[in-house]
Amino acid sequence: MTIAKTAASGGTGLHPEVLAFTSSLALDRALLQEDLVGSLAHLTMLSRTRLIPSEDARALREQLVAIWKAAKAGTLVLADEEDVHMAVEAELTRVLGERAGLLHTARSRNDQVALDLRLHVREKVADALDVLATLLEGLAARAEAERTTLLPSYTHRQRAQPITLAYQLCGYGAMFSRDVDALGFVLQGVAALPLGVGAIGGTSLPIDREVTRELLRFSRVTMNGLDTVGDRDFALDFAYAAMRSLLHASRVATDFFDFSSPEFGFVKLDGEIACGSSMMPQKRNPDVFELIRGKAGRAVGNLTNLAVLVKGLPGGYNRDLQEDRQVLLETGPLLTSVLSMLHLALGKVHFDRERCLAAVESDYMQATDVAEALAMKGIPFRTAYKATGALVRACQEKGLPLAQVTLELAQSVDPRFDAEVLKSADPRLAVERKANAGGTGPASVEKQLVELKSHAARARELARAVPRLASLFDALQEAAL
Ligand code: ARG
Repeated sequence: MTIAKTAASGGTGLHPEVLAFTSSLALDRALLQEDLVGSLAHLTMLSRTRLIPSEDARALREQLVAIWKAAKAGTLVLADEEDVHMAVEAELTRVLGERAGLLHTARSRNDQVALDLRLHVREKVADALDVLATLLEGLAARAEAERTTLLPSYTHRQRAQPITLAYQLCGYGAMFSRDVDALGFVLQGVAALPLGVGAIGGTSLPIDREVTRELLRFSRVTMNGLDTVGDRDFALDFAYAAMRSLLHASRVATDFFDFSSPEFGFVKLDGEIACGSSMMPQKRNPDVFELIRGKAGRAVGNLTNLAVLVKGLPGGYNRDLQEDRQVLLETGPLLTSVLSMLHLALGKVHFDRERCLAAVESDYMQATDVAEALAMKGIPFRTAYKATGALVRACQEKGLPLAQVTLELAQSVDPRFDAEVLKSADPRLAVERKANAGGTGPASVEKQLVELKSHAARARELARAVPRLASLFDALQEAAL
């Protein structure tokens, strides 16, 4: 490793090992696009406020654009510096000499990195929202095709009540819909422009933060610089929203590797998503779902890591904050890759409708419906519950599933059972009769489908409204100076 050349990186010669220890370049070069877009906006503001001459601004802009293009082409070589911000400055200096120093007028790396990270989160949230929309659309379409497929629902991982597969899928959709809302909240949090507060207390130069805000399309500017440079709430919010979404994904994954085991036998994994064993030739393992569950753990670690990093930090900027890089930069790709894989995998599981139905018909999951039918006749629910419990035990002794109970047997248990009440032992009726909001009945499921689709549309809309780095770059290249 060579010795950093720029003054901020220890112009007098930072010890190579110190530079290596303190440098974040290996990680934060991933923020190069964010950094260049931020610098282009800052430069434009400096020129418009006449803080720097427009010819210099033009020359600097040309070089910033050249760095962007070289990075795209894979030809950019950045010098060993403390971070991407200094590496860009070093590159500008290499080409422009002293003039390059004009760019850092009224700016600190403290507000610069706060900007880069916000731009990054905004971009990654937009990516994640697009993937969430695709996932929700997929779940809704699948649910529409499975409106009449019956399968057991589970509480305590024991069979509970008959439901439709559409209802099960809408249940997953409900979780991911909340993730759309959570990411919407993250976007509101990152909508404040940090740039312009300098190192902590502002600048005595007559900058105009409103110009930068508009150029970068933030909706407001941050209120207080001391807070701004030390604030990583937006990162915590993103890490939390991502973690929660991945917790959701992990729960769906568990259902699917359970359902694909012969013990459940509800789904078959397409060969494209089933992994083999190196030793057992018969195996078709649900590794994809297991890894979705496993990767969720990383998101939990990332959130914990950030929270511990911020805990007890004094006000203002502290170098500890540079340690946010690893976890924050991992969050976006982790979230989108897991959600995309979940979408792909769900498209490649085949439900065995017969086996799902057989599981429902061979069981006693309609017992609550029978008890409720009795209660409808004016019998107190607890009494109806006990009578139905006795009926279930009588059926079990005879090896009869509840759907096959006879009137004779039922009346021998309790004379208040009649033909009408026993109809509710039909699993299909048990589902159809659940008319209340939030239940598995058909009308309720239709409403849930509408809800899923509207959340998918909302996710697309939120994602579309995010100003993307590439389009900001295009606009800034041509902005009036
Ligand atoms: N590399 C630093 C970070 O990422 C940039 C800010 C450094 N500020 C400073 N005063 N050294 O947090």
